[in-house]
Amino acid sequence: MTAGIGGSAPAPGSFDVAAVRALYPALSDGHAYLDGAAGTQVPASVIDAIASAYRAGIGNLGGTFAASDRAGEIVAAARAAVADLTGGTADGVIFGPSATSLAYRISEALSRAWTAGADIVISRLDHDSNVRPWSQAAGRAGVDVKWAEVDLVTGELPVAQYADLIGPRTRLVAVTAASNAIGTRPDVAAISGLAHGRGALCYVDGVHATPHVPVDVAALGADFFTTSAYKWSGPHLAAAVARPELLETVWPDKLAPSSNAVPWRFERGTLPFADLAGTTAAVEHLAALAPGGGESGTGSGTSPASRRQRVIASMTAVEAYESALFGRLLDGLAELDRVTVYGKPARRAPTAFFSVAGLAPRAVAEHMAARRVNVWHGDNYAYELCTVLGLEPEGAVRAGLVHYNDVSYVDRFLDAITEIAR
Ligand SMILES: Cc1ncc(COP(=O)(O)O)c(C=O)c1O
Repeated sequence: MTAGIGGSAPAPGSFDVAAVRALYPALSDGHAYLDGAAGTQVPASVIDAIASAYRAGIGNLGGTFAASDRAGEIVAAARAAVADLTGGTADGVIFGPSATSLAYRISEALSRAWTAGADIVISRLDHDSNVRPWSQAAGRAGVDVKWAEVDLVTGELPVAQYADLIGPRTRLVAVTAASNAIGTRPDVAAISGLAHGRGALCYVDGVHATPHVPVDVAALGADFFTTSAYKWSGPHLAAAVARPELLETVWPDKLAPSSNAVPWRFERGTLPFADLAGTTAAVEHLAALAPGGGESGTGSGTSPASRRQRVIASMTAVEAYESALFGRLLDGLAELDRVTVYGKPARRAPTAFFSVAGLAPRAVAEHMAARRVNVWHGDNYAYELCTVLGLEPEGAVRAGLVHYNDVSYVDRFLDAITEIAR
């Protein structure tokens, strides 16, 4: 088993995938959902939490009545839940509609302090949502953009290059914790250490990492860490996690009457209260995945584990389960002469990006869909990576695992791809 990103984690429990799958109503449709990297299904507990929030009555924030109080409680609970998922602080959790919109929002605010002659470092491994907001803000501010390159054979993002890229004028380093295309998990702690050594901030895209490994934003050295709930069994919204003290120094554009307080001043308009109730339920779902997660297993051995401890235990078990299953998928692909798998990074999320010789990615995905296997095709917004790999505009095929996938999905996938790739 590989280590999670960030801090140390307890030993994993066993992982009962059949029990987990039974919690997801959508999985009963018989399709093999290997498209989790583009968005996961949700368990009944999340659906129920959203419905219950609406059934109970939700007012807007700041009113004098119970339904308004309930909205406030929902927001507070969701901030606490995302803090437990990531190791952050509840007061540093900013909610937004998507990681993309949060990156634009935060880049606009941070870049106000940038002056001509400064620079930023972005990477060709990243999803475009952690590239374009920064390069466009840099263009407006007259700031240079430096690129961290991917080793196209291994798929690694070598850390050594950052020592040259980051200098005294660097204001920000934006890097992903996991590639949503080839799965690479760069050494973010080392990269953020180099950034901090030069006084630069580190903005970490945690969207693809969060569903697969335990996250500890402090151990990663992430000044900002984004995560999208719809990638980890929650609703379609996202969060950026930062230290409240850092947020106090940043002023985004905002409406005059809206709160000046942190983190509220980073949130635009009315929050999606019911979906935030679903977000808390999704974190509870993840925290309950590892058997025995209900007790700390330390100290007296009988004290209830905190939700943060249960999340770490669960995600450690998820990582071990997914990486074993992913090994089977990769081994199967390696036997097929007409398949090219891009990258072989040492530390990776369970996501494979590949081409089948002579077939367009969409044609492969259509063949798979006809066999009830859901895979993605295209560049998956890993635009820079696909460009340097020579894969634009068609991209490639992506098959990714999440915790509710089982061996029958992987075998159906391999059977279906073998029909067209041997
Ligand atoms: C690694 C990564 N970063 C960012 C995003 C963008 O997330 P959102 O849809 O919340 O903007 C995605 C979505 O696929 C992703 O996989």
